[in-house]
Amino acid sequence: MKAEPGTTIRVFAPATVANVACGFDSLGFAINEPGDELVLTLTEKPGVRIIEITGDGGRLPLDAEKNTAGVSVIKLWQKLQPEFGLEMKLHKKMPLGSGLGSSSASSVASVFGANELLGNPLSRKDLLPFAMEGERLACGVAHADNAGPSLMGGFVLIRSYDPLDVIQLPNPPELFCAVVHPHVEIMTEDARKVLRRRIRLEDAVVQWSNLGGLISGLYTSDYALIGRSLNDIIFEPVRSLLIPGFDQMKQAAMDSGALGCSISGSGPSVFALAKGEESARAAGQAMQEALKPLGLDSDLFISPVNAEGPRVLKD
Ligand code: HSE
Repeated sequence: MKAEPGTTIRVFAPATVANVACGFDSLGFAINEPGDELVLTLTEKPGVRIIEITGDGGRLPLDAEKNTAGVSVIKLWQKLQPEFGLEMKLHKKMPLGSGLGSSSASSVASVFGANELLGNPLSRKDLLPFAMEGERLACGVAHADNAGPSLMGGFVLIRSYDPLDVIQLPNPPELFCAVVHPHVEIMTEDARKVLRRRIRLEDAVVQWSNLGGLISGLYTSDYALIGRSLNDIIFEPVRSLLIPGFDQMKQAAMDSGALGCSISGSGPSVFALAKGEESARAAGQAMQEALKPLGLDSDLFISPVNAEGPRVLKD
C-alpha cells in the first residue's frame, strides 16, 4: 500500500475483557466480537478529522480532540509527523459503557489503521501508549488492560505502567469465553469512583496469589487452576452492587459448569470462562436466563480468546 492522499483502509479492533477477576488494571484478553470498525483515508489537507460516526446514537463527539479514536491518532501524528492529513469514519459496532472496552476498541482501530496506512513505522507494542491516550480521555486514567489486548491480541499482562512493560501470555486452546451484556450502562469513570483506595494486606495477598495462579494456569493450560484463580475479593464485591442480577448470573454460570465468572472490565458485562465452546454457551445462556426475572434484556457473545487483535478488513 502506497502512502499518498486518497489511500484508504478499513480496519476492525476487538472488544476485550479487562481485569479478568483478579488482575485489576493489569490483565485483559481480546474476544472475537463485538468490536469497532474504522475507515481511514490519507488526505492532502493536514490534521486529523473525524467526518462520520455511526452506531453511537449521536453520543460521541466528531471533534477529534474529544474522541478516543481521534485523540490517540493525534498523538501518533505528533510523533510521526507524516506529510499527510487523516480523515476517519468510525462505525461503533459495540455498546458504550458496556465493560467491553468500547473506548479502547476505537483508539486501537485508529492507531492500528493509521500505522498501516503509513507503512507500519511502529510495532504494535510501540502503538500502545498512543491507544492509552484514548483511555485517559474516556475515564481519566490511561489504563492499558483493554487497549493492550485489543491491540496485541490474546491475554496481555501490564506488568508495569512506568516504565510500560507489557507481556503477552499464552492462550490455552480450549478456553472459551461467554460474555453477557445486560442492557444497562455503567461508565468506567463512575465505576472507578466507587473503589476503595486502601486495601487490607490480607486481601492483597489473596488477590496477588490468585493472579499468580491464573497466569500459571494459562502457561500450563491447567483449566482447573484457571478456574480456582478466577476470584476477585477486592473489586467485585463493590462493583457488583452496580450490576442488576450479578449474583444470579454468577451463580447460574457456576452451576452450569463454568470455570469462573466475574465482571468484565468495570461492568455491567459479566464474563465466564469455560473449557470448550459448548460449556461456554451453556454458561452464557444460563446467565441470560438468570436475568429474565429482572425483566432485563441482554446480548450474549461466545468467543475463544482472540489471538489476532486488530485486522485490516477487505471488501
Ligand atoms: N481496569 C479498568 C477498570 C477496566 O476496571 O476500571 C475498565 O474497562
